[in-house]
Amino acid sequence: MGEFKDIAHLIRLAGVFLLGLILFLVFRSVTIPKSFGRYGPFRGAALVELSSRPLAFAGHEACENCHPDVAALKAKGVHKSINCESCHGPLAKHADDPGTVKPVLPDVAQLCIRCHSENIAKPAGFPQVNAKEHSGGQACNTCHQPHSPGFDAGGKK
Ligand code: HEC
Ligand code: HEC
Ligand code: HEC
Ligand code: HEC
Repeated sequence: MGEFKDIAHLIRLAGVFLLGLILFLVFRSVTIPKSFGRYGPFRGAALVELSSRPLAFAGHEACENCHPDVAALKAKGVHKSINCESCHGPLAKHADDPGTVKPVLPDVAQLCIRCHSENIAKPAGFPQVNAKEHSGGQACNTCHQPHSPGFDAGGKK
């Protein structure tokens, strides 16, 4: 009979665990958002929230419709695969209302070297220059037309 005498503190211990489990479940149900897990391990409602935010980028088709001259020049040159807003930044507001929202032109001194400054980590075939030596301190667009900067495709200024 001796072994049954000690069972009381085992029951108390189980009770403590049970209480802990209940507290955990209550805490969990209070803190986890309702839509969590609806589609996956994230808040389902986040999708609606994100898609209702205003668009920042207009997409290059929009730019090309209103700026066909630039689009045509770019399409012939080495920058044909680069979308307008990669250089001009997000311009949805301008595309919606070009009369009121006039874009600031990109700062050439910052823009071109972002992609073309010499760097050993870049693929060897990618055109890159030591900006200071190459440009002699002149702005890149003194010699290169940004929308068609190569010299073979008639892009020369
Ligand atoms: C609905 C027509 C429309 C759309 C869409 C549009 N633009 Fe424009 N954009 C204009 C008009 C009109 C002007 C002002 C005319 C001007 O001064 O050349 C302008 C001016 C600009 C300028 C300034 C020109 C300057 O000389 O200062 C830039 C840069 C420009 N747009 C880039 C873009 C880009 C990039 C896009 C795509 C995200 C775009 N635009 C979409 C109509 C449009
Ligand atoms: C490689 C970067 C780059 C791309 C891609 C690019 N632009 Fe530009 N764009 C520039 C720069 C830099 C200037 C400013 C040139 C200056 O200051 O003289 C400019 C100027 C302009 C201007 C002012 C007038 C002019 O012709 O110089 C317009 C309009 C324009 N861009 C529209 C567009 C549109 C539309 C597209 C896409 C079809 C586009 N750009 C793609 C870099 C770019
Ligand atoms: C977003 C990145 C990006 C920016 C910004 C950019 N370029 Fe380019 N550039 C490219 C890519 C990509 C190519 C094509 C590379 C290829 O064909 O392998 C290219 C090609 C060129 C070439 C042709 C090189 C050759 O092989 O003949 C020149 C010149 C050039 N860019 C100058 C400029 C100038 C000047 C500016 C600033 C007005 C500029 N780029 C801004 C990505 C960029
Ligand atoms: C004084 C005129 C001049 C200026 C300023 C200038 N370039 Fe060039 N760039 C050239 C000429 C000419 C070529 C073609 C011959 C060559 O490869 O050197 C060229 C070629 C390039 C190439 C292709 C190199 C390759 O390996 O295929 C890139 C990229 C380039 N320039 C980017 C720039 C950038 C970025 C700037 C601004 C920091 C700039 N250039 C300023 C005249 C100029």
